[in-house]
Amino acid sequence: MAYRIAVIGGDGIGPEVTAEALKVVRAAGISFDTTSYDLGGARYLRDGEILSDATLNELRGFDAILLGAVGTPDVPPGIIERGLLLKMRFDLDLYVNLRPFVGTAPGQSEPHSFVVIRENTEGPYVGEGGVLRKGTPHEVATQGSVNTRMGAERAIRFAFELAVQRSQANPSHKPHVTLVHKTNVLTFSGDLWQRAFDAVAADYPKVGTAYNHVDAACIYFVQDPHRYDVIVTDNLFGDILTDLGGAVSGGIGLASSANLNPARTGPSMFEPVHGSAPDIVGTGKANPIAAILSAALMLDFLGEGDTATRIRSACASHSGTGSTTDIGSQIADAVAG
Ligand code: IPM
Ligand code: MN
Repeated sequence: MAYRIAVIGGDGIGPEVTAEALKVVRAAGISFDTTSYDLGGARYLRDGEILSDATLNELRGFDAILLGAVGTPDVPPGIIERGLLLKMRFDLDLYVNLRPFVGTAPGQSEPHSFVVIRENTEGPYVGEGGVLRKGTPHEVATQGSVNTRMGAERAIRFAFELAVQRSQANPSHKPHVTLVHKTNVLTFSGDLWQRAFDAVAADYPKVGTAYNHVDAACIYFVQDPHRYDVIVTDNLFGDILTDLGGAVSGGIGLASSANLNPARTGPSMFEPVHGSAPDIVGTGKANPIAAILSAALMLDFLGEGDTATRIRSACASHSGTGSTTDIGSQIADAVAG
């Protein structure tokens, strides 16, 4: 059976890295058909389309969506992000943003391996709030954070399940989940998250737990990343922490992500953490490994875990140097056998 994959290359280096990811998946022996969707900032500037309801409904019919990167400096901030990326995350109910980090942080002697589970449909991202008296000295802007018990709990439960799976895959490894928040200041949302976390933890007596304030977590990411196994956090903290995670794990050129609908009521979406990098488009300097590892996460979710593992080990053995297409071809050759 051939998987049906919707491909949104997007802007800047997005199409370049996505092409390499598909090359590697094909070389690994997975059969799939792709349908390309021309979406992103460049498309918006051409004819105004961001993501119509008709296109979104078409996307619902695929097994997965592979996305490169969207956004161009010619479009004001927020339009493509909200209208395309966040619209997919929200409307397809991609409530888990899973971002794994493997690497050796600067100054550390041992490699770390942890996963951030970022809640992906709530928090300050929902667009609650507004502006009054805009442009006057009395201007007011509010942007609230929306946190539902259901939303926090389902992300937290996913994190505990993942910790159990990771320990089953590697029995020397004790399952552990850390909640990251800012409960000392965000007393309403932090309290909801903490109580949801404690309630789920009670169902997993064999999984160790910890709590870190987000500011302290930034120190630990750099100075003691080995303390982490699975981290669960809200949408905005997760956004910020995962850029830091990339920076301490070999760079953002290696950081992959999966936007998952674990209920499988529709397709999940896979994309590198990095952006469209318009400054290096067409130069061959973009590292396709983040996109290739994102495709490996797609294969995990499609039930092709053995192939995903082969792709990950080929990426880990690669020096990471070379042009975009050279790196892609070398990893493709390595997985082809
Ligand atoms: C990410 C990105 C997005 C986010 C932007 C592009 C809206 O930074 O996927 O981390 O903030 O979620
Ligand atoms: Mn981000």
